[in-house]
Amino acid sequence: MSTVSASSVAVAKSHVNHAFQKCLNIDCNATFGIDEVRTSCGKCGELLDVAYDWEKLPVPTKLSDFEVMWTRRYEPLRFSGVWRFHELLPFAPAEKVITVGEGQTLLQQANSVAKYVGIRPGQLYLQYEGMNPSGSFKDNGMCAAFTHAHMVGAKRAACASTGNTSASLAMYCSVTQLMKAIIFIGSGKISYGKLSQALEYGALTVQIAGDFDDAMARVQDVSKELGIYLVNSINPFRLEGQKTVMYRVLEALRWESPDWIVVPGGNLGNSSAFGKAFIELKQLGLIDRIPRLAVINAAGADTLDIVYNQRNLRWNRGRPRMDIACWYYDELDREKRKADTIASAIEINRPVNLRKCLRALDFCDGVVRKVSDQEILDAKAQVGAGGIGCEPASAASVAGAKMLRQQGVIGMDDRVVCILTGHQLKDPTATVAYHTTDQEKFNEVLGSRGVSRASYANRAVAVPNELDAIVKAIQLYS
Ligand code: F0G
Repeated sequence: MSTVSASSVAVAKSHVNHAFQKCLNIDCNATFGIDEVRTSCGKCGELLDVAYDWEKLPVPTKLSDFEVMWTRRYEPLRFSGVWRFHELLPFAPAEKVITVGEGQTLLQQANSVAKYVGIRPGQLYLQYEGMNPSGSFKDNGMCAAFTHAHMVGAKRAACASTGNTSASLAMYCSVTQLMKAIIFIGSGKISYGKLSQALEYGALTVQIAGDFDDAMARVQDVSKELGIYLVNSINPFRLEGQKTVMYRVLEALRWESPDWIVVPGGNLGNSSAFGKAFIELKQLGLIDRIPRLAVINAAGADTLDIVYNQRNLRWNRGRPRMDIACWYYDELDREKRKADTIASAIEINRPVNLRKCLRALDFCDGVVRKVSDQEILDAKAQVGAGGIGCEPASAASVAGAKMLRQQGVIGMDDRVVCILTGHQLKDPTATVAYHTTDQEKFNEVLGSRGVSRASYANRAVAVPNELDAIVKAIQLYS
């Protein structure tokens, strides 16, 4: 764990008085102190935002000021890819800030992926959030929620998870030794890469008979009952940290907004956080142009796509018809339909941040699409072939960009940033099954999900243990 210098303590202390929590429901608008632990409004039960009295805070006058501060990266507050933007998420006193060096991630131009998507070379970028310490974007949000948990003196922190949130929470707990991690996972619903992290980092792992949606409902009840700090993205402090993914994208583009941000949608924390980032940057006069947002569901977990595209659920100036979503959830229950996709990270049917995501889509002139497991795995193989790689859920962004390009929504010359949310090694089972020569293995893992071909497979070559045969094989294939 890092410590911070005395000078930054003085600056950050003044911030804390000007941060509060605010109900998202514009007919309620209740506010709560920054030191209160809540994941919903105490009056109406809606989601909460972290809000700030910006005019009383020392906000940089232009975004490029953050570059100057980067030169002070010997200070942990400036080294962290999240906290170096702390003027834009000023809720924590510096002496409470926790960092393990999260957010040192890369925006990479990816021309081979651009070709696959159908975009002019030089215009497609991949934001590699898998480079975070626990291997996913979650560390951006977790360091913020964990910092808040530390501020309020929590000793235990919990989450429901499809794997990455739990790996991240378990990591912050084990590195800092400040809290005990308690994680809820659905049975058989987490990839081994992620489970291995939680187990090794020492989290108490509770596997419940159900899926993520069941675990998410349970963890809220249990946290309330036992007074355990909840770190899922329903926690508004998580989203504060996740805003910084957009600051880093803008920074890498020399503070010019791209035309599109394309992001996978699961619990809809990222899309919500990105929207909030742009709303605030615009309000602060730090950007002129807002990128368009594309949120991509997996076809097997397509609640957002259905309520947005088929049932016309919109932000509606702050009064979304949330009963449309409730009716849909009743339908899911009646028909006993469960989320089902190879992209296990986004195998979620009841996204807790739906309302905030609608606000983001409204502000960023957004679109929503869903992509099949076949499209996800093909896109993932292309991302891997072009560079650092990603896990299946992340590739939904590239598959979604390709679909939007084919539909003419994204133009050939548009500048597009796809967010790669998780590391390639998080879920080797799907990757190995895609590239295998063993048809049985392929069918076992992928066949049941409607994946029938592996057009971009790179298969291992089997040869006898003989010099001539090996030489021949290498000459033939290279
Ligand atoms: N990509 C990856 C790799 C994820 O792990 C998740 C969410 C998402 C995308 C979806 O992001 O919820 O912000 O829309 N994983 C959570 C977890 C649910 O428990 O690790 P979102």
